[in-house]
Formats: sequence, structure tokens, C-alpha cells
Amino acid sequence: MTTTVGHAHPALAPTTLGGLALRNRYAVAPMTRVSAAPDGTPTGEMADYYAEFARGGFGLVFSEGIYPDTAASQGYLNQPGLARDEHVAGWRVVTAGVRAAGGRMIAQLMHAGAISQGNPHQDHTVGPSAVQPRGEMMPAYGGSGPWGAPRELTTAEIDDVVDGFAAAARRAREAGFDGVEVHAANGYLLDQFLTDYTNRRTDSYGGPVAGRIRLTARVVTAVAEAVPELVTGVRLSQTKVNDFTYRWPGGRDDAEVIFAAVAEAGADYLHIASEGRNWLETAKLAGGGTITALAREVTGLPVVANGGMHDLTQAREVLDGGHADLLSLGHGALANPDLPARVAAAEPLAGFDRAMVSPTVTVANARRWRESRQA
Ligand SMILES: Cc1cc2nc3c(=O)[nH]c(=O)nc-3n(C[C@H](O)[C@H](O)[C@H](O)COP(=O)(O)O)c2cc1C
Repeated sequence: MTTTVGHAHPALAPTTLGGLALRNRYAVAPMTRVSAAPDGTPTGEMADYYAEFARGGFGLVFSEGIYPDTAASQGYLNQPGLARDEHVAGWRVVTAGVRAAGGRMIAQLMHAGAISQGNPHQDHTVGPSAVQPRGEMMPAYGGSGPWGAPRELTTAEIDDVVDGFAAAARRAREAGFDGVEVHAANGYLLDQFLTDYTNRRTDSYGGPVAGRIRLTARVVTAVAEAVPELVTGVRLSQTKVNDFTYRWPGGRDDAEVIFAAVAEAGADYLHIASEGRNWLETAKLAGGGTITALAREVTGLPVVANGGMHDLTQAREVLDGGHADLLSLGHGALANPDLPARVAAAEPLAGFDRAMVSPTVTVANARRWRESRQA
């Protein structure tokens, strides 16, 4: 990793996100850790895990994907929820710890849809259409084997999904979060609606890209209206946890429709993910430019870029080149919970070690890994 750039790095400059003042442009990317109690309540161990990033200088911390309802949204056993009022108290401890260390925190709400691989509330999955997902369940999150074909959601059930996001957003406010991010990326339910091969609907939620983005737009509006005093954002991606090769079939034209729809729906920022790939690989547009820069142009909103942003040279190019306003870091943050402090002090960064998240991605496994290195 590049370590020669010191205090002048543009990622250390303060900024705002939808009215939320941030001490720098470094955010911890949302990362599922399957470390909650079996009923979805966040634990003290999780509070310590999140607070460490804020103590290490990250201006913003995105939560892992949180399930919003007790119907079909949960994706993983031991995933945390904001689906019941009892979940709120645990999250209050988490957000208080982050805030006390000078950070801000956004709750990512996630409906797993057809790629749920652990949900004690239901024995079937749901999706836009009864199309079996590509790929296989992820052992690092406690699953194995192929997913089954989901049951197609009715329009009444789609309304329930939207209401579930709004109710969870209200719980996020009670829990002390500064914002709510609608997870419409990485192959989960909202992205299943956006993706041509998983959405075969013939109603107004299917068909051309303007129809396929409609559910995401509805959820964004419902969340923004439920918690007007909080920042509302949306995470989008071309790649998926179960398909790293997918790109929006209409390229730039699709991107323009998608970005305009979520901005019109009331998003305060866009977070463009790069699941399984580097930013440059997924962001490059045929004919020049990047989708993150295009998102800024089309919407006029702040954009969070993701994918290998622990690389200081790439991070500088993204910010100075006008490709994004903030950077979210996954693997780089796991390896360096104090990355912003290290960058400010021009200290070297640690490389990511897969053993940190093996055999599963729990916080406890990461702690054991660390202890084994100190022993
Ligand atoms: C252990 C782990 C869990 C993840 N869980 C989520 C998640 O819950 N929600 C999400 O949007 N992305 C999730 N991601 C994707 C990251 O947010 C990020 O997009 C990806 O790691 C690429 O960024 P990076 O190159 O900085 O690691 C996860 C990634 C990792 C490594």
C-alpha cells in the first residue's frame, strides 16, 4: 500500500453529508459481522467493535446491513435487526460509543430477498420473480449450497416491504443514528428488482430500468418521509455478492435513469459500491468517465465511492479528480481500524489478512486473530 502521503491527504478534509458535519471523508463501509444475539439484538462486543473505528479517526461509520422486519428481510443468522422495538436499546449503546469518539453513524437497512441464507422468521425466500439466484450461499456468513427459487412478491407484500423500511428507519432514529442508508446494492432484494435477469415482472415494478428502480425509489421516499431530520442515502452497485461480472445493461443511459430516480425520490447522498472488485474496475464507463462522477453530475448530491480506497494514491485521484466526495473502506478498515489517524501521522498501513474473517466473519473471530498475533 502507498504510505508516503501525509497530513495533506484530501481524505482528511472535513465535509458535510446531507447537513451532517463530518470531520473527514473516511467512512467505514457497511460490513456484515453476524455477531448479534440470535434475536437480532446488537451486543456489547459489537459496540466495542464500532467505537474502535471512531476512536481511530473515521468521520463516518456505516452499520452492517440491518434487517428491517420480521417477515422475509433477514439474510443471515445472528444478523442484527431494527425490526422490533427491543432492538433499539442495543443500538443506542453502539451509536453512543461512536458519537463519544467523535464519529457519526448511519444505519444500513437491508432486505435480503432471494439471497437470504438464514431467517428464523420464515422458511422461504421472496423476490421480484421466482428466479433461482446465481451462485451459492456464502460459508463466511454461515450458509452453504445453492439458494432456492424465491416466491414472487405480490403488490400488497411490496407495500409491506416499504412500510417495514419506514418503521425500521423510525427505530434507527430512536436508536441514535444520524442517518439511514437504503441498501439497494450487492444483489439483495432491491437490487434483485433492479437487475434484468432476476426481475421478470410485467407490472410497474418490472420492465425497463425506470420500472425496475421504482421499488428502490419508493423505499427511499418512505424512509426520507419517516425520518426527515435524519440523512437518507441509498447504496447502489453493479456487481453483486453472487455475481461480480454484472454491469447495468444500458451502461451510462441506465445509470442516468437510476441516479435521477433516487435523487428525485429524496436521497441526500448516493453510495456506489464495488462488491468484490476495485472502484476503477466497476466505475469506468464505456466512452470515458466514471459512474461515481456521473452520479454527482446527474444528482448534484454527495457521492461515496467504494472499492480499494485504502490505497492512498487512488483515494487522492478519486477526491481530487471530482469522482466522489467521501470514501468508504471495508477490508482496509478491518486491517486498520485507525486508518485516518495513521494517514494523518504518515504511518504505514497494515495489509488485510483473510484469516481475520475466517472461518466466518464474526467480530469474535477477528478478536481471536488479533490476540493470536499479539501472543
Ligand atoms: C466482511 C464483509 C461484510 C460486508 N457486508 C456488507 C453489508 O452488510 N452491506 C454492504 O452494503 N456491503 C457489505 N460488504 C461490502 C463492503 O461494504 C465493500 O463494498 C467491499 O468490501 C469493497 O470495499 P473494500 O475494497 O474497501 O473492501 C461487506 C464486505 C465485507 C468484507
